[in-house]
Amino acid sequence: MSFDIAAIRAQFPILSRQVHGKPLVYLDNAATTQKPQAVIDALVRFYSECNSNVHRGAHYLSDEATRRYEHARDVVANFLNANRREEVIWTSGTTEGINIVAKGMAERLQANDEVLVTELEHHANLVTWQQACKKAGATLKVAPILNNGALDQAAFAALLSSQTAFVAMPHVSNALGTVNPVQALTRTVREKSPRALVLVDGAQGVAHGDVNVQSIDCDFYAFSGHKLFGPTGVGALWGRYSVLEDWPVWLTGGEMIASVSYQDATWGALPNRLEAGTPNIAGAVGMAAAIEWFSALPLVEVKQHEAQLIERAVALGEEFDGLTLVGNAPEKIGVYSFNLNGIHPADVGFILDRQGIAIRTGDHCAQPLMKRLGVPGTARASFSIYNTIDEVEQLFIGLRKAKEMLS
Ligand code: ALA
Repeated sequence: MSFDIAAIRAQFPILSRQVHGKPLVYLDNAATTQKPQAVIDALVRFYSECNSNVHRGAHYLSDEATRRYEHARDVVANFLNANRREEVIWTSGTTEGINIVAKGMAERLQANDEVLVTELEHHANLVTWQQACKKAGATLKVAPILNNGALDQAAFAALLSSQTAFVAMPHVSNALGTVNPVQALTRTVREKSPRALVLVDGAQGVAHGDVNVQSIDCDFYAFSGHKLFGPTGVGALWGRYSVLEDWPVWLTGGEMIASVSYQDATWGALPNRLEAGTPNIAGAVGMAAAIEWFSALPLVEVKQHEAQLIERAVALGEEFDGLTLVGNAPEKIGVYSFNLNGIHPADVGFILDRQGIAIRTGDHCAQPLMKRLGVPGTARASFSIYNTIDEVEQLFIGLRKAKEMLS
């Protein structure tokens, strides 16, 4: 399949709607992506054809729902190049995935252990580790960034030692778009801190390229369906089998047990032992449909297209008097964060919205990062495969209007 932007856009019904009487220009893809018809159809099909609970029923519909649900797990496992399907745990999203790991880790951390995160973290991959360290009396270390928003890799390496028990880092920064060299960083962790486990927050990484957990060589990779053209409320945590097989249970209930008495219980095998309760079955099926849809696109051309969108935004920004780009790491994808001098980002967002242009403004759930960069927040346009160069240009027409009105 060749990359045909018009054909891709036609598959997203929401892209043809208007807001405030203007055609929608949706540039808030780092917050959530829109859904192609294939995903919407998969959800409708599940509920209209075979809605039933999984793994429990002695009937036809339950068998069919179970087959579709477990097929979805295979789709995720293949997508990530997992070694085993049991390494894929369904979650409600990236945040829950990270919390499963951090809560388990809090039980294992010793008082003189260290956990290393980066200055780029979203709160989901910071507060979780901060709290786990507090609980265990361990120390949280933070690897700094350079002023351009790229991770300072030398400083990252220097912070690793035999005391490091865990490293958590984002694949791609949601606030700046910085792409971390997660494979090289994990290699450094293996060399300098052989006992440390590594988690990659993949929330912003999955929709922009091929993720291969075996090449990255991390121990955990967490992501959400909704940032990958799938439904909200569903995600996956991938964990290396040997690490995950005795990971502390975080929720107890149905599905995750081997045997139960009134006095005690024993836990079942992966993946179910970390999946108590009725899962988001339709969500899993919808997420698999999204992955299948995305995986059918020509990835090289998708990446080229996204790079062109960023390049165009950067070029237009350079010509725009009074615009400061926030984050210009050499490896950057999907996100164009900026400020208009003297104008609050929330006001920029408001004026753009009236023109049909959707962006996000504020701290992007990365307050310490904003503080490090010396800004209260930013205006953030975030691009996806269905955005066009014309939409990038409309963003800057909108910004000119905002500047006229607000300065
Ligand atoms: N984490 C999402 C964002 O960056 C919600 O907007």
